[in-house]
Amino acid sequence: MDKRIVVSRVVPESALDVLREVGDVHVCPQDRPLTAPELREAVRGAHAIVTMLHDRVDAELVEAAGPQLEVVANVAVGYDNVDVPAVTGRGVTVTNTPGVLVDATADLTIGLLLMATRRLGEGERLLRSRRPWTFHLGFMLGAGLQGKTLGIVGLGDIGQAVARRARAFGMDIAYTGRRRVAADVEAELDARFLTKDELLRTADVVSLHCPLTEQTRHLIDEAALAAMKPTAFLINTSRGPVVDEGALAKALHEHRIGGAALDVFEREPEVEPALLDLDNVVVVPHLGSATTETRTAMAELAARNAAAVLSGREPLNPVRS
Ligand code: DGY
Repeated sequence: MDKRIVVSRVVPESALDVLREVGDVHVCPQDRPLTAPELREAVRGAHAIVTMLHDRVDAELVEAAGPQLEVVANVAVGYDNVDVPAVTGRGVTVTNTPGVLVDATADLTIGLLLMATRRLGEGERLLRSRRPWTFHLGFMLGAGLQGKTLGIVGLGDIGQAVARRARAFGMDIAYTGRRRVAADVEAELDARFLTKDELLRTADVVSLHCPLTEQTRHLIDEAALAAMKPTAFLINTSRGPVVDEGALAKALHEHRIGGAALDVFEREPEVEPALLDLDNVVVVPHLGSATTETRTAMAELAARNAAAVLSGREPLNPVRS
């Protein structure tokens, strides 16, 4: 009997082709985030589940799938949607898709950094509003990047790719994280390791590249925002709950920081309504990895991970609890 592979959303055909070589593929036809009961129903009898970052993968889902379940392949580098101990503890392999989205996410981060510091969204909204404007020397001034400090929270692959790009803009790099990166990486990026507090106090732009964990949830809270320079910008392309969105909206409303740019949201896909009325924040709908090339590569990598496990091989990207 063919192994049953359930894919929770529509993915590129090339990824389905990889999966078809090892089993019988069922793509959930709704093509929207399924409710927990819908997802539980969909995965019944599955040997592999290919999940998206909005799918909650927990003990209940694994139990609903049944004892034949071998692998959950998450199409994302982040896996905060997966209760990894609960899943692996039931003998099911969890995989993710690191590497393939580094450049796309770093590019988007720089795009957001420029949008926030140069007020690009605000300028666009002005023109689209058809209100009159004229060039003058004090018109819609933003902040330059040359010689400014980019404070990176989490200097992993994406953080490093952002740092490389920022250095091309003449920025200095500081970073914080659970531990220092290798000396050759620090040397290449001329990156200074700081404590979180030092970084918040000194950075002109704070960019978040850490995973969402219990330690990083609300890492940027009211106190962290208060520690930032009143001219500093916050960029978040990691996970929404790393930032206390209510506290951020308040800080932006009171102009206690220079501005922010957000690709991710605390209650995604909902966006804190208070943010939407503010001019000093840029908001985009989780586009970090959203290029055709990258999303295809992510889906194909997830498919290869699932196929490896179903064929009795080691997956390329196992997530360990
Ligand atoms: C990921 O892979 O975790 C990203 O958030 C997708 O853009």
